[in-house]
Amino acid sequence: MGGYIYETSGLVQISHAEIEKRIFQHRLFGLDSLQEHLFQFCKAVLIADSERIQDFIFYDLAPSILLYGSPNTGKTTLCNLLFDRLKKEVTNEINFYTIDIGKMLDPALGQSSRNLEEAFEDLRKACSDGSSAFLVLDELDSFCMSRSRIQEHDAIRRAMTTLILELDRLHPSSTRKLILCGITNVEDLIDTAVVRRFSLKHFVDANLDWDDFRCYIEYLSRPIKYIPQDQDLEQLYDIYKGRAFKSGDIKALYKTLLIDVICEGKKISIRDNLFKLFKEGFSTSEHLAKTYGEFANGRQRMANR
Ligand SMILES: Nc1ncnc2c1ncn2[C@@H]1O[C@H](COP(=O)(O)OP(=O)(O)OP(=O)(O)O)[C@@H](O)[C@H]1O
Ligand SMILES: [Mg+2]
Repeated sequence: MGGYIYETSGLVQISHAEIEKRIFQHRLFGLDSLQEHLFQFCKAVLIADSERIQDFIFYDLAPSILLYGSPNTGKTTLCNLLFDRLKKEVTNEINFYTIDIGKMLDPALGQSSRNLEEAFEDLRKACSDGSSAFLVLDELDSFCMSRSRIQEHDAIRRAMTTLILELDRLHPSSTRKLILCGITNVEDLIDTAVVRRFSLKHFVDANLDWDDFRCYIEYLSRPIKYIPQDQDLEQLYDIYKGRAFKSGDIKALYKTLLIDVICEGKKISIRDNLFKLFKEGFSTSEHLAKTYGEFANGRQRMANR
């Protein structure tokens, strides 16, 4: 995971240098207003004076953000970029943490819950020197699926209850500043008790308009020195909409294109390969529609038995 791992709890501190490496030259397109909104919220939490903190307490406003949306829409990147900007523009005294869910979850009865408690305890200790913490809980669904829909393993249910308690303990204060970002692909499967505790809930999916799409394609084309023509861009935009690509899908197509350029060199036409990739390459939405269809059909078959 590339960070300092606390002994048993699964809490991991990731250095700013590592985050910078992960987001090196990364830009998110079509998400400007969301990025700005989240930055302003986190900044307000970090610089809050006692009067502002009273407002937070009055409204029970905990510094917690839930980001949800399909795979490949930029949720994890958004958290990394947000942390980087807070570190550079608001306070250097903030550290990035995450919880290694695989390490935290333990089949022994009650152990996952104890690990999670310990992770938050470790975090509070780490902040006792006055520094702030930016905690990202990625793949929240791995232990927060709705109790009413799925009979989870008892260990997982207990861990979720612990998270609920910890979310209730997240109060803004002038001495301890902890911002929690939860991420999931399947918000509708997350337990309502968990979802409702997040102060900010944001759907992340850029759904690029024409201008953002053009800027994104130009940005992705630059390293391979390809300059798309306006007419081509228009056709690509039609395919983008038709195949409902997620923003990350487009980057993945360019990854393949780069491989083609490296391996085939001048033998290929970048334009032709790009069109082929747009027409035939992987689309998260199409894949989801197919697998979700199979999943739904499977459930229907089970129900009919
Ligand atoms: N709106 C966007 N603009 C530019 N690049 C994007 C955008 N969304 C995603 N990407 C790129 O796609 C890749 C995948 O993004 P990321 O891992 O943040 O998605 P995710 O939503 O966390 O996916 P998952 O739910 O599968 O974990 C990254 O390289 C990211 O830079
Ligand atoms: Mg992610």
